[in-house]
Amino acid sequence: MSKFETQEDLNAVIRQHSELLATQLHSQRESLFPPDASKSMRKFTSGEAAAVLGVNDSYLRKLHLDGKGPSPAISSGNRRLYSAEDIQSLRVLLEKTARRPGDYLPGRREGDHLQIIGVMNFKGGSGKTTSAAHLAQRLALKGYRVLAIDLDPQASLTALHGVQPEFDLMDGGTLYDAIRYDNPESITKIIRKTYIPNLDLIPGNLELTEFEHETPRALSNGNAGLFFFRVKEALAQVDEQYDVVVIDCPPQLGFLTMSALSAATGVLVTIHPEMLDVMSMSQFLRMTADLMDVIADSGADMSHDWMRYLLTRYEPTDAPQNRIVAFLRTMYGDKVLNAPMLKSTAISDAGLTKQTLYEVDRSAFTRTTYDRAIESLNAVNDEISQLIQKTWGRM
Ligand SMILES: Nc1ncnc2c1ncn2[C@@H]1O[C@H](COP(=O)(O)OP(=O)(O)OP(=O)(O)O)[C@@H](O)[C@H]1O
Ligand SMILES: [Mg+2]
Repeated sequence: MSKFETQEDLNAVIRQHSELLATQLHSQRESLFPPDASKSMRKFTSGEAAAVLGVNDSYLRKLHLDGKGPSPAISSGNRRLYSAEDIQSLRVLLEKTARRPGDYLPGRREGDHLQIIGVMNFKGGSGKTTSAAHLAQRLALKGYRVLAIDLDPQASLTALHGVQPEFDLMDGGTLYDAIRYDNPESITKIIRKTYIPNLDLIPGNLELTEFEHETPRALSNGNAGLFFFRVKEALAQVDEQYDVVVIDCPPQLGFLTMSALSAATGVLVTIHPEMLDVMSMSQFLRMTADLMDVIADSGADMSHDWMRYLLTRYEPTDAPQNRIVAFLRTMYGDKVLNAPMLKSTAISDAGLTKQTLYEVDRSAFTRTTYDRAIESLNAVNDEISQLIQKTWGRM
């Protein structure tokens, strides 16, 4: 056995590599985003602003010429550029003269309950984080008041939103603080604003794994209470402040995922349509059903408003994928969302610079690549928005 393989040395190597990687990533981030320059949302062309608001570009132009609403920035080419804040102000203005209430501000009205959407599947890499991030951002841009929660200790959703899980959260600040068994914090203390209007974030990091370790201990001490309701109870403290909560779950069926499942009113299961993924999904579904039975046995109401499968990284030209998609649609019918999330280099490239496609400029990609990807994302997210509206009895 070489010296390298003794346990002590392996440990040292791993530790050294971990430190090296953390330092490198930190300095890379410092050069990309200097500490004083926090992340910001790009500006939108008048065409993009009109599309997201659901009005004609000419109407937006008229509002501008009449001096109504916010004053957009003017580009060197004399084009109007709207910030996400401008778009939100326009929403408020347009809603005042809307034909039907909610045409521009689609959020809750009296009697509507908070929508809590859990994005899950224990298969790693099935597109949970990408789906959750784009859903949360699109809903916020559409005028919903959104809270995104990173429940995954890997913290990819957190990093996508410009918070560094290992540096910015040294003194806590994840949902763990609000669901821990000893001295939980108020959830209001850990919610952060983001650079996108209407979008708040509860970041995650490794500390979340404490919940997985402490729950069995609390259960054996009799201190856990209804442990699976801890996320739901924490969210109840801020119920009135949001329309939709989007929870990015870790790729396993642990106590964190169970708590998210118990809090959720809607469940989105991401599926990459490949044989191995679909096979593991069968186990995921059975285990989830078993867990829900256990929770229901303790008297909890486990009914949900809806659950849907979302096809992710779908390649329409891939014949084996198409067979699996056809098979899933035949088996599960309208439980599979109509719109799939297409596989696109625009989405993965944006991810490399810790951005969603809503954050990158259209000029960063060839037009057809960008347009195809954004149309697919919008179709998915708008279909979910319709489910939300239906739950509130509006469609
Ligand atoms: N539609 C897409 N087109 C291209 N690449 C994608 C797409 N969706 C996701 N990806 C890429 O696939 C990888 C896995 O996606 P993602 O992180 O969203 O999965 P996940 O289910 O959250 O993974 P984990 O289980 O590790 O949390 C990422 O590198 C992401 O950029
Ligand atoms: Mg993820």
